[in-house]
Amino acid sequence: MITSSASNLTDQLWPLAAVAIYPCRRAQGADRPTPMPVILHPHSDFHQVMVKHPEGFEVILVKLDGVVHAYRNSCPHIGIGLDYGDGHCKHGERQLICNMHGALFDADTGYCTDGPCSGDSLTRLRVAIDAAGRVVGL
Ligand code: FES
Repeated sequence: MITSSASNLTDQLWPLAAVAIYPCRRAQGADRPTPMPVILHPHSDFHQVMVKHPEGFEVILVKLDGVVHAYRNSCPHIGIGLDYGDGHCKHGERQLICNMHGALFDADTGYCTDGPCSGDSLTRLRVAIDAAGRVVGL
C-alpha cells in the first residue's frame, strides 16, 4: 500500500474507488452521507471531490498532475467549509476557492495566496492509495 499524498499515479489507475470514505451528500438534502465509490475524473489533470472522513468531518480530495491531495474542508479564515454545500471548491486551473469570502488556495499545497487568510494554509491530511490506485483511507 502506498500511503502518501505525493504518490504519482498514472492514468490507468483511475477512476479511484474508495472503500473507506464517503461522498458528501448535503447538496442532495440527505441527512447522512451514503457510502459509494469515489470517482476522480480519469482524464482530467485537475479534479476535485468532497468526501466524508470516517470520523465525520469533510475532506477535499484533489487530483492535480497525477497526484492526490487531501485537505480538511475548513477555511483558515473562520473555519467554515470552502464550498456552498454543493461539494465544489475547484477554481481555475490549479486553485481552490473559499466561496464565503473568496480566499484562493494552491491546490497542490493548500497555501492561501489571496484573501483574508493569505499566508495561512488548509490542513493537509494523509491519503492512502492502494496499488490499484484506489483511495482506501484517509
Ligand atoms: S471563510 Fe473562507 S475566506 Fe472567509
